[in-house]
Amino acid sequence: MCGIVGYTGFQQAGPILLEGLKRLEYRGYDSAGIAVINDKRQILISKVTGRIANLCERTQDGSSCPGNAGIGHTRWATHGAPTDTNAHPHVSNNGRFAVVHNGIIENYLSLRKELVANGYHFESETDTEVVAHLIDMYYDGDIKKAVIRTLSRLRGSYALGVICQEQPEKLYVAREASPLILGVGVGENYFASDVTALVSYTRNAIYLEDGEFAEITPDSITVYDCSGHPVQKKVTRITWDIQAAEKGGYEHFMLKEIMEQPAAVKATIAPRIKDGEIVLDDIELTGEYLGSIDKIVITACGSAYYAGCAGKYAIEKICRIPVQVELASELRYSDPIIDERTLLIVLSQSGETADTIAAMKECKRRGAKTIAIVNVVGSTIAKEADHTIYTWAGPEIAVATTKGYTTQLAVLYMFSLYAAKKLGRIGEEDYLSLLKKLKSLPKQIQEAIDMNSSIDRMAKKYYNNSSIFYIGRNTDYAIALEGALKMKEISYIHAESYAAGELKHGTIALISDNQPVIALCCNQSVMEKTMSNIVEVKARGAKVVAVTFRENEKIVSLADDVIFVPNVETLFSAIVEIIPLQLLAYYVARENGCDIDKPKNLAKSVTVE
Ligand code: M6R
Repeated sequence: MCGIVGYTGFQQAGPILLEGLKRLEYRGYDSAGIAVINDKRQILISKVTGRIANLCERTQDGSSCPGNAGIGHTRWATHGAPTDTNAHPHVSNNGRFAVVHNGIIENYLSLRKELVANGYHFESETDTEVVAHLIDMYYDGDIKKAVIRTLSRLRGSYALGVICQEQPEKLYVAREASPLILGVGVGENYFASDVTALVSYTRNAIYLEDGEFAEITPDSITVYDCSGHPVQKKVTRITWDIQAAEKGGYEHFMLKEIMEQPAAVKATIAPRIKDGEIVLDDIELTGEYLGSIDKIVITACGSAYYAGCAGKYAIEKICRIPVQVELASELRYSDPIIDERTLLIVLSQSGETADTIAAMKECKRRGAKTIAIVNVVGSTIAKEADHTIYTWAGPEIAVATTKGYTTQLAVLYMFSLYAAKKLGRIGEEDYLSLLKKLKSLPKQIQEAIDMNSSIDRMAKKYYNNSSIFYIGRNTDYAIALEGALKMKEISYIHAESYAAGELKHGTIALISDNQPVIALCCNQSVMEKTMSNIVEVKARGAKVVAVTFRENEKIVSLADDVIFVPNVETLFSAIVEIIPLQLLAYYVARENGCDIDKPKNLAKSVTVE
């Protein structure tokens, strides 16, 4: 999704803006641009379609846009094709204001009509351009007033950055349903839509809330509410370091993040086990409350949704509470049966996914208590939920989530034990035994990585296929869903997951000679059944790759290839089973020469509907 950055201070703005934009590249984009005010009070604009590298070349690393204040943008096209003209910044007709924007101005068509009627002409097809003209229309020498009037006219979501020729040191920013963080420096200040663009410059941040806007100079940051009254904000210390957002010798962020999973899961679990007990300081749920709810609803998008699908098995099995897992994009429009007897669990790595935010708001409105499981501190979901449990995975840069997903699973597993204990639905012996198994997961994830160190060879065998099927039952099915998503999003190979028992209800018609089928076989309770499905697809010519434990000799002898994982407690097996599937997708994509960290058409954080 789009990214924005801004700088004002004693240094040249151009190189800082370009560096910030590079840090936002991972979010996905198709064009980029910067606007800098020079010492003659001219706004210098440079915009290109394609990569930031093109923008660096065009601006000679920023030196062709000299000046000490500016704004920058990476665009992920929504309104209008990815062209130089549609790229941001957008400028008012008289060149007085330049604007960058993340989000969508929903009422832009009516505003555009009104502005045209007032003599403004439009260069681009974007929704954003209306903002530049509106501010100009309302400007009578007082930018703050013009910004307030403009914001009151906008419907939709925005993180906005604005500069004005007439006050060359000032930046104006505003936020509504799109993240915006201010970076506090000494004699210089910054803004960005993502902390990763700020951490190499400052660790002191101010998080804007919806409806707030700010005036930024090199020496001051003043935040206002939507009526223009000053708001006191606290400065938060960013704990992520820049190394965590760099590749550290790996060819891709995705591979680095796969390898970081043992540490990420440990960082998520270990501090929450104290004196033989799971302590979730972040939430306050009593046994009485948990006993009073009718159900738990888990909502999320993409991989986070699939983490919910896997987590459901653990929660239902251990707590005996019904769990419904809903796609946030569906839940929000489904007139859901949710009230104060529903506990809503919201999963999101970024904490900024638009559909997930909307689904959460809808459920809150209907009375549900909400727990968010989120990775990015200070994100919208983290702030708006009743309780937040952080996943402590560190920055995840690759668009395809890996450690974000496994740490979400780790929290769901912890939550299931925590809730079962509060409810008195688990005996002490079982609790302690599962706790021990939970603690060993980081080690077992490491073993799964080590056991599959030559999976790149298997990738060479399968990378050339046009489709791959993933099958499994129960917890294995939940992993099939995530495994297939990993494969399709980074390798562009058609990959589908099926509950193995569903094959004969239609899908088996697609199985013919040499069709790769990845069969997930780690769940002992359904092992025999999955084996029958393997036999069925093999009888139709499929090449079966089984994912299982070394001890499962029968399956090993049935499959054409086997991927081994350590023998893990079934309830928690998903977190280990997914590791080789992430690696397989990675190496298949690499064989196919794909842009692994930034797959086409995808964005890291989907901040629009
Ligand atoms: O940031 P979120 O966890 O809310 O993101 C949800 C999905 O957009 C995300 O998991 C997406 O499916 C990933 N590309 C999967 O790798």
